[in-house]
Amino acid sequence: MADPNAYSRLQIGLHWTIALLVVLQLSINAGVRDAFGDRLEGLGPGLAALAAGTIFHLVSGMTILALTLLRLVVRLRRGAPEAEEGVPPVIALMAVFAHAALYGFLLFMPVTGLIAWFFASEFFGTLHEIGRFLLVPLIAAHALAALVEHFVLRNDTLRRMLRYTAR
Ligand code: HEM
Ligand code: HEM
Repeated sequence: MADPNAYSRLQIGLHWTIALLVVLQLSINAGVRDAFGDRLEGLGPGLAALAAGTIFHLVSGMTILALTLLRLVVRLRRGAPEAEEGVPPVIALMAVFAHAALYGFLLFMPVTGLIAWFFASEFFGTLHEIGRFLLVPLIAAHALAALVEHFVLRNDTLRRMLRYTAR
């Protein structure tokens, strides 16, 4: 592995691009919910009739899927840095599980969304909705943990995800 002490620029860029798109997905979905309701009732709609917010949700969600697959390839080939020194082992272990769960959701949300939309499946629409209820608190805990490491434990965990620092 090239430099297991730091995330690469590509890994950092992918983390924040995907994080931004996920926050937008969680905010911009009223249009797709309406359009999906119409689809379940067999009402259409043709792609041309879709509102901008709906198209954004579909395209951005598929972008998240593509970027996540790229990110996982990079992660498997290059690895990721160990927990910073001084991080209690139990917290480091929780981070491992939290990151694995986040990767899981980055696949689960687009896949359930795609199946719901293209196969007009209410069941997968419900899975997609349930995913949202689990993902939001997980992201909140993840961001909070990053801030606690930065301001309370005062280590470089957040810094190394903000800019590349070869050590
Ligand atoms: C990480 C990616 C995604 C996130 C975080 C996300 C998030 C959301 C959220 C929060 C909702 C509202 C759910 C609710 O009614 O409470 C929603 C609805 C929906 N999304 Fe996504 N979405 C993602 C990707 C996708 C993709 C790729 C597609 C399809 C191409 C898609 C299709 C849909 C559909 C059809 C609905 C309406 C489902 C329903 O009302 O039951 N989503 N999405
Ligand atoms: C908005 C606030 C966020 C902050 C402050 C934040 C911060 C961080 C930091 C500091 C790390 C590095 C942890 C370490 O080196 O041990 C990290 C890793 C990670 N973050 Fe975030 N993050 C945020 C949002 C998100 C979102 C929205 C997602 C996806 C839904 C996400 C997914 C991940 C994943 C999967 C990792 C593990 C990376 C790896 O080791 O391969 N993050 N985050």
